[in-house]
Amino acid sequence: MPDKNNIPAHVAIIMDGNGRWAKSRRLPRTMGHNAGLKAMKEIVKHANVLGIKYLTVYAFSTENWKRSKEEVNGIFKLLISYVASELEELKENNVKVHILGRWTQMPDSVIESLSRLIEGTKSDTGLQLNIALNYGGRDEITMAAQKLAAAAVAGQILPEDISQEDISGALYTGQEGIPDPDLLIRTSGEMRISNYLLWQIAYSEMVFTDLYWPDFTPEALDKAIEEYQNRKRRFGGR
Ligand code: FPP
Repeated sequence: MPDKNNIPAHVAIIMDGNGRWAKSRRLPRTMGHNAGLKAMKEIVKHANVLGIKYLTVYAFSTENWKRSKEEVNGIFKLLISYVASELEELKENNVKVHILGRWTQMPDSVIESLSRLIEGTKSDTGLQLNIALNYGGRDEITMAAQKLAAAAVAGQILPEDISQEDISGALYTGQEGIPDPDLLIRTSGEMRISNYLLWQIAYSEMVFTDLYWPDFTPEALDKAIEEYQNRKRRFGGR
């Protein structure tokens, strides 16, 4: 069991391998995402019990639009059904939901559903679940650069005064006061970052597992946290 006194405050997850999980069972990819959502619900519950403060999951990237219309729509439908079926339970469990990314550029039905989710959980004080949707790390940094450039042009800040804190603060995470992830987990055996939280993971510990995301259980999360707890974080120091 993980040491209760050293639980990472912020855990970020790349939930990869839904497609391969489905393929290995001769099921359509959409069924893999359904199973992935089930796994995510269990992980959210468990993260809350462990006392993790922020859990950030990658649900849809700015690159995922390249997938088939059927798959993209399947993920959107899943999001809508997630809100319909889970809102009450999230509230009961005191989970607050926040969305990172250009989610207001998604279809109206998705925006409407997510707005209900954010509004319905906004005063919750337990785990904060950040769902990265239509999110890209480079896109986020570009948006922050545009904001700071506009502030400089408006005479609110001198270019040479722009600090790392200013950049952090202009990101989706910074605007919400979300600290950098302590631990980043990627499932399915891939060892890539895939444009996720590029700025924020500068000093995050990384744990990779071969499990496909639908097979990632609360016990697997415990194991990843134990691995994190066995690491010595030096933040560039000695
Ligand atoms: C990566 O697996 C997974 C995704 C791109 C979608 C993740 C979505 C969910 C877990 C469910 C929906 C989430 C919410 C919040 C409703 P992949 O499809 O790239 O798998 P593969 O690499 O094996 O093809």
